[in-house]
Amino acid sequence: MRELKIAPSILSADLSDIRGQVALVEEGGADYIHLDVMDGHFVPNITFGPVVVKAVKSVTRLVCDVHLMITDPDYYLEAFAAAGADICTVHAEVLDEPGATLDRIRALGMKAGLTINPDTPVSAVLPYLDRVDQVLIMSVFPGFSGQKFIPEVLKKVEAVASAAGDRTDVEIDGGINARTAGAAARAGANVLVAATAIFGSDDIPGACRMLRQTALEARRDG
Ligand code: DX5
Ligand code: ZN
Repeated sequence: MRELKIAPSILSADLSDIRGQVALVEEGGADYIHLDVMDGHFVPNITFGPVVVKAVKSVTRLVCDVHLMITDPDYYLEAFAAAGADICTVHAEVLDEPGATLDRIRALGMKAGLTINPDTPVSAVLPYLDRVDQVLIMSVFPGFSGQKFIPEVLKKVEAVASAAGDRTDVEIDGGINARTAGAAARAGANVLVAATAIFGSDDIPGACRMLRQTALEARRDG
């Protein structure tokens, strides 16, 4: 069974104290720091780029899991590799040749992720399973944290989790909290991204532990 990983997204963190926020999720046993890069073009929001990834990387030992919600990821891959991204996930919707982009991500020394929006079919990722380290199934339309989980995507999680080898992680992103983490884990997601449920909590380390516990229990109880 794939190892369960918790990936707090700093989209909802107090960015004026990123060092402190990262320390709190480390205390809570998080595995990744999820970094949501938005260009104001692929999605209707703008966040940050390689400069902020580099700053976060400098204050954590956790894996930096960079989610590129941008129209032209190919142009920026070197910059994110240089900034210290460990995993780089790109959207199938913007790529003419996903295989070539994924190969370039790996050649730059990063793990490669491919992701699909809630209305994109799994057929957009299945041909590339041998060229990715991670498939990300979006459970909200990307752009903002705090949106409601779309349960229909669980069928896609199941399809990818059963088609992919055990070394390919299945990540889910959007609306993950104590009520939805169990269903996501049961469907086969092993990397749980959460912004609001973690950084919106009064007890950030506790929220990380709670998500892990909920997912592990759901797996155990089937
Ligand atoms: C959505 C981003 C997510 C987002 C998740 O556009 O890709 O990573 O931050 O936020 P929550 O967990 O609040 O749905
Ligand atoms: Zn994300």
